[in-house]
Amino acid sequence: MKHLARLLVGLALLCAPGARADDWTPAQLELLRALWIGNLPALPPDPTNRYGDDPRAAEFGRLLFYDRRLSSNGKTACATCHDPAKAFTDGRALARGVGVTDRNAPTIIGAAWNTWFFWDGRKDSQWSQALASTENPLEMNFPRAGVVDLLRRDRDYTRRYRAIFGDLPARGDAEGVTRAFVNYGKAIEAFERRVLPQPSRFDRYVAAKLEGREPKASNEKLSLDEEMGLRSFLSVEQSQCLRCHNGPLFTNGTFHNIGSQNRKAASSEEGRAAGVKKALVDEFNCRGKYSDAAPDQCAELDFARVDGAQLVGAFKAPSLRNVARTGPYFHDGHVKSLDDVIWHYRTTQGAPLGQSELEAATMTGTEFDQLRIFLGSLDSPAPADTGPPRRR
Ligand code: HEC
Ligand code: HEC
Repeated sequence: MKHLARLLVGLALLCAPGARADDWTPAQLELLRALWIGNLPALPPDPTNRYGDDPRAAEFGRLLFYDRRLSSNGKTACATCHDPAKAFTDGRALARGVGVTDRNAPTIIGAAWNTWFFWDGRKDSQWSQALASTENPLEMNFPRAGVVDLLRRDRDYTRRYRAIFGDLPARGDAEGVTRAFVNYGKAIEAFERRVLPQPSRFDRYVAAKLEGREPKASNEKLSLDEEMGLRSFLSVEQSQCLRCHNGPLFTNGTFHNIGSQNRKAASSEEGRAAGVKKALVDEFNCRGKYSDAAPDQCAELDFARVDGAQLVGAFKAPSLRNVARTGPYFHDGHVKSLDDVIWHYRTTQGAPLGQSELEAATMTGTEFDQLRIFLGSLDSPAPADTGPPRRR
């Protein structure tokens, strides 16, 4: 009886006007499911940071993330370059803090799933990444002793720090200061681990399709162009995109040479080839004494690929979630718009340095346009409770 009812409902759906029950094949539906936010695995713990999932550390980290006092000009916080109103980027080609950097600021939404941080992956944890930005002369330009002084001067910070990590070090205790600085980074990571991807229109569309129904509400519908673009995106033969932008974060998290260096710039950068060497000798890496990981928990570092022509000129494939709002694009921000990114994939020829992995495109101009339009459906609102905190 139940089966018969289901069959009848199925038949009614097939005949209903507007229903397109045959529009995605079972194989395509599986590809959609793989990209769907519902397929995102639970955030794995970070063994290098034992405070990573401590809610007190996350609250503390949130205050630090928005605190401009942590910079030599008193004007730059993490949030200056990772603004929640801009999908945690800054809208600039090159990030600007105390100085102007030579890199585009990536989003931090979903970054907690990454194994490697920065475009060249020269860091292997979010806490050690945060330490680098704080001391970088072009970003916050703030020495670790200055950070610890602020933790000492600000009563609320001292109280929070002590509750989580114990006493602050004595002045002049260099090793203690570095440890406290590391704890500061670990608190910031705990906050960043809450900056999680949110459902987009694309995700709601897929959810409806997986339930076997036609998307109806405006926040779960794709336009015809978006749907056509999605078809191209799913077809590796057509677009290649899924080779690198796959899984629910639309990235495989690894490094590829796509000829993305600025052809007009004087020098080309080594990318991952240089980044992995830095990660291996970093005093704040997984194997270092400031890491909370056991030696057998650093497999990514132990087995990282260090040599090989494919690392030269390779950069990390970024997530495409919210990508319509994270421009300008590429590691050095030299690509202004999504149209220009698409143009890169359409016309790509060789790489200024190393060997490009991209193959010649076989899509028409219209199909490329639709691909760009589809990317707009990956927008989502900022995650709740990650904006600037109200203090005390
Ligand atoms: C001056 C602007 C600026 C400031 C300030 C800044 N960042 Fe960034 N951030 C960047 C840029 C640029 C990159 C990429 C740099 C690179 O790859 O070489 C980056 C990369 C990152 C990444 C790596 C994301 C990924 O997927 O690889 C994280 C995480 C991050 N920043 C968090 C922070 C935190 C936390 C702070 C504060 C402690 C901070 N940033 C301060 C500009 C900034
Ligand atoms: C061989 C791997 C590979 C393939 C295939 C690929 N990408 Fe990428 N993609 C990358 C890498 C690597 C970057 C970052 C390059 C850089 O920053 O220098 C990138 C960057 C991007 C960006 C810019 C994101 C940002 O935040 O700067 C967009 C948009 C994008 N890709 C979309 C696509 C689309 C659409 C396709 C299919 C037509 C595609 N990609 C195919 C590896 C790939």
